[in-house]
Amino acid sequence: MSRSIIAVYPGSFDPVTNGHLDIIERSSSIFDEVVVAVLINIEKEPLFTVEERVEMLRQSTGQWKNVSVDTFGGLLVDYAIRRGAKVIVRGIRAVSDYEYEFQMALMNRRLEPRLETVFMMPAETYSYLSSRLVKEIYRLGGSVKGLVPDLVEEKLKAKVGR
Ligand code: PNS
Repeated sequence: MSRSIIAVYPGSFDPVTNGHLDIIERSSSIFDEVVVAVLINIEKEPLFTVEERVEMLRQSTGQWKNVSVDTFGGLLVDYAIRRGAKVIVRGIRAVSDYEYEFQMALMNRRLEPRLETVFMMPAETYSYLSSRLVKEIYRLGGSVKGLVPDLVEEKLKAKVGR
């Protein structure tokens, strides 16, 4: 019996980095369908609006035909089940990510045992990369070339105004 496997790749993506894209590309070559899901979080104060983040993700993932971009609120597991997913994808960069990710994966499993969390490692060139650092470096005048897609760099320019 062949059954297509849908994976959800959730996150804040504020903004999407080349590390995220690396994980999306790897996921798209393994799973039949990958849904990149941007969390609508009213508590956090993001740099980019959800709409801007979705747009940047759509523009930078268009080359992968089995990848789509969506938003979600509430519990991730509820959203994943609604989308018919079997898998939650998370990127692990360093050991420091592990504790939080382990906690989240086990809590998600407790909430919804039908879902499996799959951890993926990005290329080592992205192992120190995060959206938070990209924003900080850009604000302080550093170069983020090669760390984010060009279109994100343009958006940073417009938003932060350098
Ligand atoms: O990119 P991030 O900010 O590390 O992503 C965190 C995210 C969106 C995966 C996590 O905060 C999440 O799943 N939030 C949705 C609410 C939820 O399900 N919380 C319970 C997690 S055990």
